[in-house]
Amino acid sequence: MKLTIIGTGYVGLVTGACFAEMGNTVTCVDIDEKKIDGLKKGVLPIYEPGLESVVINNYKNGRLQFCTSLEDSAAESGIYFIAVGTPPGEDGSADLRYVLAVAREIGRHINDYTIVVDKSTVPVGTADKVNAAIRDELTRRGVKIAYDVVSNPEFLKEGAALEDFMRPDRVIIGTNSEQVRKVMRDLYLPFMRNHERLLFMGVRDAEMSKYAGNAMLATKISFMNEIANLCERMGVDIENVRQGIGSDSRIGYSFIYPGAGYGGSCFPKDVKALVRMALDHDFEPKVLNAVEQRNDIQKHVLFEKISKRFGAKLRGLTFGLWGLAFKPGTDDMREAPSVILLKELINAGAIIKAYDPVAMAAARRELPNEWFKSGQLKLVDEQYSALDGTDAMVLVTEWKPFRHPDFKLIKKIMKTPVIFDGRNQYDPALLREAGFEYSGIGR
Ligand SMILES: NC(=O)c1ccc[n+]([C@@H]2O[C@H](COP(=O)([O-])OP(=O)(O)OC[C@H]3O[C@@H](n4cnc5c(N)ncnc54)[C@H](O)[C@@H]3O)[C@@H](O)[C@H]2O)c1
Repeated sequence: MKLTIIGTGYVGLVTGACFAEMGNTVTCVDIDEKKIDGLKKGVLPIYEPGLESVVINNYKNGRLQFCTSLEDSAAESGIYFIAVGTPPGEDGSADLRYVLAVAREIGRHINDYTIVVDKSTVPVGTADKVNAAIRDELTRRGVKIAYDVVSNPEFLKEGAALEDFMRPDRVIIGTNSEQVRKVMRDLYLPFMRNHERLLFMGVRDAEMSKYAGNAMLATKISFMNEIANLCERMGVDIENVRQGIGSDSRIGYSFIYPGAGYGGSCFPKDVKALVRMALDHDFEPKVLNAVEQRNDIQKHVLFEKISKRFGAKLRGLTFGLWGLAFKPGTDDMREAPSVILLKELINAGAIIKAYDPVAMAAARRELPNEWFKSGQLKLVDEQYSALDGTDAMVLVTEWKPFRHPDFKLIKKIMKTPVIFDGRNQYDPALLREAGFEYSGIGR
């Protein structure tokens, strides 16, 4: 099939690369010229395990092409995927300006029957707006061309995006058209060779499924953080509690790790957008509000622990920070808990030496320049260098190389052996025995 993917970010690039890998001819379009130029030279704009070789191989064999506008795309395709960003607007609602701009562009471009697929995360009712935007453009052109708008929310996880796309738990298709079902089924079947995992439903149901899914996961995290904070006050070990409840098959082990709050480009904005949708329907979302509130508080927990130990003024103290990305496996810094902690440490006068296995370039690009200029934030290119001569170590992102480090070396190079474990990666008893002061989340 010939496909066009508009928006070549985390979702668009992975979608395009995976469809090309399955034998389709894919054009990825993005208005960001630098991104497209880089991709044509084999330089990926994001870090995602395994993605680079799939992109480069498919670009070389001609199944994957890149361009900056629909006008430049070589051939017209029958299916257009919208995969542009839907950032939060001022009132928390998803900002649809990019999605609707793309819809209008599609309306200006198509000449034959087309399926338009909303892959961006969009509020309930967006497919109708996309529909109207395309219809307006066709009317302006004075042409009658049939098209269908489908909702196909994306559930990939950054850090495992390729794997998730290639072997999805499920693919949700929101449509009422039998013809569209057939085409979408045909397109996705190569990704589910052993058993079909396609779920067909109404467009609005599909749109809501994405928000409800992310909100459920965010709820699990906030719930666990709440229990962890309570455990700490009651002298209960949250890690034992986590295992105690995770072993119940109705609860399960995933997504019940306490930490420094959820971040990234999806959970924070999607919970906010769902709250907004509820308020717009005169419905007060009590659980969702609490999930957000707990997360906002949780992002300050590490700093609170640090200031409890060292005082509110941290001038003259140096902290070694491990992990900047919002989670392991990605270089994405959007809404990362590390950014809030850095801001608090810097405002308190501290110096920070930070290291992340892949997010260093993103950090240099996205963190405020004055943090670097003032000399308060130093990015170092090796994990132990970040701890050399420091007053405390703070683990923020649980990358694998941080899981079992050389604590003998750490003890030797740190000024004072104090560890703030923002991901409960380490055994407090072992560390205390080794002469460290230890503080984790909820313990
Ligand atoms: N990142 C994730 O893990 C993830 C997972 C599931 C769903 N989503 C959703 O998918 C959507 C995209 O997310 P993302 O993380 O890939 O975003 P992103 O910011 O990484 O990429 C969006 C891209 O769209 C491009 N763009 C904007 N306007 C354009 C236009 N008119 N024409 C062509 N390109 C245009 C931007 O230049 C950018 O490269 C969002 O709605 C997001 O909520 C994201």
